[in-house]
Amino acid sequence: MLTQIKNVAVIGAGTMGIGIAEVAASCKQQVKVFDLNHEFAKQAKQTMAKRLESRVKHGKITADFRQTLLDNIKIITELDELSDSDLVIEAIIENLEVKQKLFKQLQNICFEDVLFASNTSSISITAIASVLVKPENMIGLHFFNPAPVMKLVEVVAGLRSSKANLDLGIELCHFWNKVPVLAQSSPGFIVNRVARPFYGEAMKMLQEQVASLEVMDVIMTSAGFRMGPFTLMDLIGIDINLSVSKTVFASMYNDPRYRPSLIQEEMVAANLLGKKTGQGFYCYDGQDKPTVHYQRTQQAAKTISFNSELTVFDAFKKQLKNNDDIIVTEHQGGVAMQINDCAIEVSNGQTCKQRLTTIKQKHLAQVDLMLDYESSPIIHLSFDENCPKTTKNHVIGVFQQLDKQVIIGKDMPALIAMRIVCLLINEAADAIENGVCNENDVDLAMQKGVNYPIGLIAWSHKIGIKNVVETLDNLHHWFGDDRYRVSPWLRGKV
Ligand SMILES: NC(=O)c1ccc[n+]([C@@H]2O[C@H](COP(=O)([O-])OP(=O)(O)OC[C@H]3O[C@@H](n4cnc5c(N)ncnc54)[C@H](O)[C@@H]3O)[C@@H](O)[C@H]2O)c1
Repeated sequence: MLTQIKNVAVIGAGTMGIGIAEVAASCKQQVKVFDLNHEFAKQAKQTMAKRLESRVKHGKITADFRQTLLDNIKIITELDELSDSDLVIEAIIENLEVKQKLFKQLQNICFEDVLFASNTSSISITAIASVLVKPENMIGLHFFNPAPVMKLVEVVAGLRSSKANLDLGIELCHFWNKVPVLAQSSPGFIVNRVARPFYGEAMKMLQEQVASLEVMDVIMTSAGFRMGPFTLMDLIGIDINLSVSKTVFASMYNDPRYRPSLIQEEMVAANLLGKKTGQGFYCYDGQDKPTVHYQRTQQAAKTISFNSELTVFDAFKKQLKNNDDIIVTEHQGGVAMQINDCAIEVSNGQTCKQRLTTIKQKHLAQVDLMLDYESSPIIHLSFDENCPKTTKNHVIGVFQQLDKQVIIGKDMPALIAMRIVCLLINEAADAIENGVCNENDVDLAMQKGVNYPIGLIAWSHKIGIKNVVETLDNLHHWFGDDRYRVSPWLRGKV
């Protein structure tokens, strides 16, 4: 029961530990913080005090609240002082043996039924708990950085964690005003597993020279993500990101879905680790990021026809109907949109050249995925290689009339956003299929843990699960790589 958790201990006063201490202390729990490096722990509290001072100045919290919070945190120098702890959260270095040694010590100090939790990002909770006499006492509480700000906490079930303790973990998260999701102890838990393609597929496309990294970043932000994959990797640290990828890949017995990128390996070898070293995918020496070149203004086609039975391009239809220069007509059946002799469809994982063999049209343009076509500032298109320049310009002109910046990409399967998002959806589906989490939690986790604009399962319904499966099957066919195999959970939903 939650009422039994009054005294909280946090081991490790680094980035995560001190943040977790702040979370508990701000909810009036008494928190003792222990770090091997006592001086560092004291400094960490002072840094927190300064940060809270600035929050007081900005009117975010009151001076009284700040003082009470700080009074609730006590830096201790001996583990023995933790004998009255109801909950111990460990946030020390990411090393199984070191964590096991710590918990072995702690079980001789704490109550028999203390709740033990680890904030590990990648180590099996089952493995850490295996050294305990009562492994049922141990759960994972995986906070996200910065812990006081990020809402998500993955409550991780080791093989022997008790149901009562997992329930208590969830209850605690609610008490701390966090959003808990339940995950089985498995590589990467939910977020670090499901998010792999966001980075991995972007780097694979960079390697395949599908587009430049700045173009991919611009397209992904336009598609709805808060940051593009390359900007985000620079922020996380290329070495950290590679290390998570390697851990998940090895733990999944080298499943090609999680294959790390050679590009990233080379960057780490060159000490290009991202923002922290001044250079990663981008250079941080004060220069502007490389500019993305959009299509020059073109004359739009005079008429355009929409398939009256499809809703995918409704936003465009609505907007164009108010445009006096373009005549909008409708047709029944067939392609989604038609401009002159060029059909326009959302990408389905085939190249335009492949798809033209089945749709009996002269030319084809495929549109990349955007979460919201109406508000996205960019439209990313590819054309079949024989499409005449005048036709292309007429199509480009229409999208410019819709106030879009236009990027023309290579005729590649699934373009960029569609490819990444379908793989993310596949990963979310596979996590559900394999009992890592449920449908609701996977959507919550990606929104609250990594700020995705919408849950991936919800996104799959928006795209249409049938279309997601078709896209993945086409990618699988094109690349012949098991990385693109469709999750049975998704296929079963078609
Ligand atoms: N940094 C993140 O973004 C993040 C996010 C989620 C989870 N995590 C996990 O949280 C844990 C801590 O990560 P961090 O980034 O805060 O690390 P950090 O390096 O900032 O801090 C770790 C602290 O633990 C102390 N320490 C090391 N061994 C100790 C021991 N045996 N006893 C007591 N203190 C010890 C160190 O002195 C250091 O102050 C790791 O397991 C990590 O995987 C990190």
